[in-house]
Amino acid sequence: MSPQQNHAQGGLKQAQVVVVMVPLPAQGHLNQLLHLSRLIAAYNIPVHYVASTTHNRQAKLRVHGWNPHSASNIHFHEFPTPHFQSLPPNPNASIKFPSHLQPSFDASSHLRDPFAKLLHSLLPKSKRIVVIHDSLMSSVVQDLVLIPHVESYSFHSVSAFTMFFYFWEALGKPFPIEPEILKALPSLEGCFTTEFRKFVTKQHNHAKLASGRLYNTCKVIEGPFLDLLAKEEISGNKKQWALGPVNPVLAIQANLGSNQIHKCLEWLDKQTPNSVIYVSFGTTTSLSDAQITELALGLEKSEQKFIWVLREADKGNIFSGEGERGDQLRKGYEERVEGRGMVVREWAPQLEILGHPSTGGFMSHCGWNSCMESITMGVPIAAWPMHSDQPRNTVLITKVLKVGVVVKDWERRDDLVEATTIERAVKILMGSKEGEEMKRRAAELGGAVRESVAEGGGSHLEVDSFIAHITR
Ligand SMILES: *[C@@H]1O[C@H](CO)[C@@H](O)[C@H](O)[C@H]1NC(C)=O
Repeated sequence: MSPQQNHAQGGLKQAQVVVVMVPLPAQGHLNQLLHLSRLIAAYNIPVHYVASTTHNRQAKLRVHGWNPHSASNIHFHEFPTPHFQSLPPNPNASIKFPSHLQPSFDASSHLRDPFAKLLHSLLPKSKRIVVIHDSLMSSVVQDLVLIPHVESYSFHSVSAFTMFFYFWEALGKPFPIEPEILKALPSLEGCFTTEFRKFVTKQHNHAKLASGRLYNTCKVIEGPFLDLLAKEEISGNKKQWALGPVNPVLAIQANLGSNQIHKCLEWLDKQTPNSVIYVSFGTTTSLSDAQITELALGLEKSEQKFIWVLREADKGNIFSGEGERGDQLRKGYEERVEGRGMVVREWAPQLEILGHPSTGGFMSHCGWNSCMESITMGVPIAAWPMHSDQPRNTVLITKVLKVGVVVKDWERRDDLVEATTIERAVKILMGSKEGEEMKRRAAELGGAVRESVAEGGGSHLEVDSFIAHITR
């Protein structure tokens, strides 16, 4: 597909509209707005991506499925990295929220002035400046009200399901909801730190500036919850668009520069279809030593083929050195499972792994990027939520969409998950009738999502509609 050719309508008019992206500096957030930049730049609209030098470098280095270095219409503004403490994560913390990233989040307030200066510099060349900012960066963009011809949209990087319930609860539950869903909804206890809650409140104080809300989801996946979000009581009559999935939906070759193929993908090539479970808990979680031991045993006892990405959580500056986890597995374990299981300690091409026909399941923390990538690739999930929106995404995946099984129940978030529990979950997902049903539904949903993203599909039309709106 060549979106550049497909959508280059009204070039002159569109050239006068520029988009400025302002992501929160954390992997899952940087990634979504970088992917969205690609979608928008494909309509011949210049996109300016605003982050510190470090976080720009991180976003470009890790994006999968396309090459940001060859995207001439995306301009990366490398603002100096303000000093912040790049602390190591604590794998023993009782609350799994990555509190060690807080200094990096707080330091993002330094982008306020460079951001305002950038808008001023773009003004003479543009009819309209459209700011798309992470909902958690509202305070950074607050000066846009002082500048003419600027409008802004807040981008919500979590599921519509999770977002709806955040709004609905914060607004005092303005209308009734099916009791069955409410019963399944986990509490927010243990999801965030107090400092982060304060940070969120500070951002929400500026949320009213936005002309509309953008979501990384689509009707095929979350139609009923998008409808709930659109209700006047929740939306306040602001416009909303569901532009997702923002990640590429076709399995594209890993972005490794040369013709090098990641060893995971080479190994997957030798396996039979749907025979491998991919295990990864994202960039913000470090498992404790005890939990690593149980997980290793559980995977071994499941007798299932696996790729396990075992890394320490990101630091605020990922280039400031990286700790390793799972030293105890180097003696014995990795040899024992050789040929059947791979422990990967570096960055892994997740989108390509999920898109590989040999991958039949994903054990995941249910971060929203991971959920969307898994859904678009038609892979069912063994859900093990750690913090933030993940416990609620777990309900969406397992109870609403029924494309997954729970490994760890949020009620038991403080407990060690034992090897036998892990073994059981893997066996359900990868080797039972129930698992087959989940796989069938996941494949069906993935197919529907890919159709929706194709020319004429619902998701594609939604992006068209947003572009028509900002270039009106
Ligand atoms: C976490 O706990 C383990 C086992 O009690 C201990 O060996 C390790 O040093 C602790 N790590 C940190 C960062 O506190």
